[in-house]
Amino acid sequence: MTTDTAEPARATVLVTGASRGLGAAMVKAFAARGYHVIAAMRRPSEAALAAGTRVVPLDVDDPRSIEALATSLAGEPVDILVNNAAIRGDTGGLSTLDPEDFLAVMRVNALAPLLLARALHANLKAGRLKKIIHISSRAGSLAEGTLDDDEGDYAYRCSKAALNMAGVKLAQDFRRDGITVLALHPGWVKTDMGGAEAPLDTKDSVAGLITRIEEAGPADSGRFLRFDGRPIAW
Ligand SMILES: NC(=O)c1ccc[n+]([C@@H]2O[C@H](COP(=O)([O-])OP(=O)(O)OC[C@H]3O[C@@H](n4cnc5c(N)ncnc54)[C@H](OP(=O)(O)O)[C@@H]3O)[C@@H](O)[C@H]2O)c1
Repeated sequence: MTTDTAEPARATVLVTGASRGLGAAMVKAFAARGYHVIAAMRRPSEAALAAGTRVVPLDVDDPRSIEALATSLAGEPVDILVNNAAIRGDTGGLSTLDPEDFLAVMRVNALAPLLLARALHANLKAGRLKKIIHISSRAGSLAEGTLDDDEGDYAYRCSKAALNMAGVKLAQDFRRDGITVLALHPGWVKTDMGGAEAPLDTKDSVAGLITRIEEAGPADSGRFLRFDGRPIAW
């Protein structure tokens, strides 16, 4: 017998960048809510992860690693793919912008989520919930990204702006498969990337992110929201 209340408990969620920060916190929170969690990280370590979590190797900067993950998951439904892994790159601004650093940030933050969406498309189609979540950043919003933050971050901002367009385009392409694609801004959060002075704890950000992820349906596909549900202008 199936019931609506039983559905989330049996859903499978795959989180990239699960070794620390928001990714690790999402893994713990999803596992605590009864999800089957696949925690993808480049250096698998089960120590820090909740019981019942499956750890898989994934370096999102390596297309062969993405293909190897897809091969290892062949035939398995994935309900939710959370593209969370990211790097910030050089924050110095235009004067220190380095082409290799810029391209590395673009590969990890913008290209990898597209390659993962393609590699796991069949798994997502086979899942019941059918959601791709991009952990983006308000820093990548053309309309809002520079309003209250004047740090350099050229590569990071450009990569998240590119990720945002990738999400909108995926939402268009995958609508026929019933796959919802959503971009979420986690807020400014205390992690290695966010720094100690950030106002939000991972727990509070992740609680909001998971609410947004669980609420999201086809009508939300192609939207960009903060962790607290407020929309962000592109
Ligand atoms: N913290 C904030 O204030 C904030 C604000 C806006 C948006 N975000 C976004 O939120 C997400 C999580 O950020 P965070 O603050 O948790 O960052 P973080 O603490 O720096 O963690 C980044 C995660 O990404 C992983 N990662 C980096 N490169 C990878 C690769 N090539 N392959 C696989 N994993 C890789 C890291 O793994 P390793 O341990 O292997 O390095 C780590 O697990 C990111 O998308 C970020 O852009 C964060």
